[in-house]
Amino acid sequence: MALHTRIDTAIERAIAMGQGGSAPTRLSSALHYACTPGGARIRPTILMTVALACGDDQPRLTDAAAAALEMIHCASLVHDDLPCFDNAETRRGKPSVHRAYSEPLAVLTGDSLIINSFAVLASASVLAPDRALQLISILARQTGMPHGICAGQGWESEEQIDLSAYHQSKTGALFIAATQMGAVAAGQEAEPWFELGARIGEAFQVADDLRDALCDEAELGKPVGQDDLHGRPNAVTELGLNGAVGRLNDILSGAIASIPACPGEAGLAQMVRMYAEKLVPAAALKARV
Ligand code: IPE
Ligand code: IPE
Ligand code: MG
Ligand code: MG
Repeated sequence: MALHTRIDTAIERAIAMGQGGSAPTRLSSALHYACTPGGARIRPTILMTVALACGDDQPRLTDAAAAALEMIHCASLVHDDLPCFDNAETRRGKPSVHRAYSEPLAVLTGDSLIINSFAVLASASVLAPDRALQLISILARQTGMPHGICAGQGWESEEQIDLSAYHQSKTGALFIAATQMGAVAAGQEAEPWFELGARIGEAFQVADDLRDALCDEAELGKPVGQDDLHGRPNAVTELGLNGAVGRLNDILSGAIASIPACPGEAGLAQMVRMYAEKLVPAAALKARV
């Protein structure tokens, strides 16, 4: 089965666990709307690629981990788009959840996805209890306080931003979760996979800053120019366009060099290279750098 089909099937199954019975129908529908169709699904793709490189001997646990991680990511986007955060009207080329369903339902959609993602991991624990417990703990660490995406979003309410802590927790956290959860789902240690996740996350942040500065809304399916608009520090204002592209390439070379020894090492390096090419639309770079 193609990786993207495996990921989408796992996500559909996980969302269905939060629907049905006597559940409110609009909120049930909003859960699905927030997660499908997906964006790049980059976090679960990394998670599964790492798991496969490590042998993937518990595929159903890997599926649960990938779905849980992507549900957390989707929840963070639903909350991020709310008027009290970025007030974004579009996401993934369609109205954001609060525009399509209402603000109360968007708050509840994010809350439900976060909680249900841990329920998905808990219910997969029969497969390998020790691994599932570690998966829950990694995902909690990279989602909450003091290191996770909650901390990242929290930095935007401080007068002085610690830029590296802000980026590492807002964006890096779920990439660290991706590499570590992929390894743990396949029975490996989490720690050696920290660096790869952190570096991919750093590269992603620089690429996101480039896309925000270079692309248009039709291309990205969400508002652009947000960093400038909100006066947020970012790699493009800090380093200039060429400097930011150079930095992106340096980080990705470091990411490849940091891949721990494992049977699928070569395939993983290949994935990072392919991913690098997709990060910033080539046309945008050619036209404007
Ligand atoms: C966007 O993430 C949010 C950030 C962390 C900057 P993605 O660019 O991975 O969003 P989707 O999932 O592809 O829509
Ligand atoms: C996305 O951050 C939300 C989280 C990472 C929690 P941004 O606000 O920077 O990203 P976009 O541009 O809305 O996707
Ligand atoms: Mg934001
Ligand atoms: Mg935003």
